[in-house]
Amino acid sequence: MDRPASTVWDANLYLKFADARTRPALDLMARLDPANGSRSGHAIYDLGCGAGNISRILAERFPQARVIGIDSSEQMLDKARAQTASERLSFAKGDLAHFRPEIPPLILYSNAAYQWLPGHIDMFPHLMKLLPSGGQLAIQMPRNHEAPSHALMRKAAEAGPWRDKLAGIGGIARVEDPARYYDVLKPLSSELEVWETIYQQVLTGKDPVAQYTASTGLRPFLEALDETERGAFYDTYARMTAEAYPTRPDGITLFPFRRLFIVARRT
Ligand SMILES: C[S@@+](CC[C@H](N)C(=O)[O-])C[C@H]1O[C@@H](n2cnc3c(N)ncnc32)[C@H](O)[C@@H]1O
Repeated sequence: MDRPASTVWDANLYLKFADARTRPALDLMARLDPANGSRSGHAIYDLGCGAGNISRILAERFPQARVIGIDSSEQMLDKARAQTASERLSFAKGDLAHFRPEIPPLILYSNAAYQWLPGHIDMFPHLMKLLPSGGQLAIQMPRNHEAPSHALMRKAAEAGPWRDKLAGIGGIARVEDPARYYDVLKPLSSELEVWETIYQQVLTGKDPVAQYTASTGLRPFLEALDETERGAFYDTYARMTAEAYPTRPDGITLFPFRRLFIVARRT
C-alpha cells in the first residue's frame, strides 16, 4: 500500500506496525500486579482496545480474569471480534470520554488511546476513583509531538492548495509534561510510577514514517481532504519525512519515538 485509501480507522495499516507498537504495550503490562487478575466479580478493561491484539495478551497474562476491550471504532471492534472467541474476553463499543464500567474494574489499562482525547488528564482521577483499593490504572501515550514526524504534518499542511482546509486541524491532543500526570494522580495513589522511553523503532519499506503515522497522527489531516488532495498531501508529507528520516544502506529507517507511561495503584 502506498497512499492511504480510506479515512476511517484502518485496522490493517495499524497492524502492519504491530511489532513496534506491541513493545510499549508489553512494557506497560509488565508493571501490572499479577494478583490483580484473580479477584472474582471484577474485570480488566482495555480502554481504546483497537483490533484487540493487546486485549488478547492481557487475557493470556491474567488467565483467571475477565478482560473487556472498549473502543469507539466499529471497524476496530469487528476486527477484534473476528480474531477472538473466548468467554473471558469480550469487546464493547464505548467512548472513553464517558466510560462507565458494567463490571467493577480491577485494572484499567490503556495503550496508545488517550492521546486522542482532549482534556484526558482530567479524566484520569475519575478513572482512579472507579478502582477498588489496590487496583491499578496503567496508561501509555505517545509523546512524540515535538519530533520532525509531527512538525512535518503541519509543514505539509501549509505547503499546498489544501492549506485552508487543513488550517484548523489540530491532530493528536497534546500529551502534557510527565510531572502534570504525577501531580493529578498522586493524591489518589499508594504507588505511582511515571516514566518515558524513547524507542528506536526499526522500519522498512517505502515511505516508512509516513506509512506509520498515516494510521495514527496523520489521520485527522487525511480525513479532512477529498481523495485527490489526500494523495497529493500524503505524497508531500512522505517526501518530507523521507528527508528527515533517511533510509540507511541496509534498507532500515530508524524512527525514534518517545512514549509516556503511567502506572498508579489506588490507595
Ligand atoms: C492507536 S489505537 C490503539 C489500539 C490498541 N490499544 C493497541 O495498542 O493496539 C487507538 C485506539 O483508540 C480508539 N479511540 C480513540 N478515541 C477513542 C474514544 N474517544 N473512545 C474510545 N476509543 C477511542 C481508536 O478507535 C483506536 O482503536
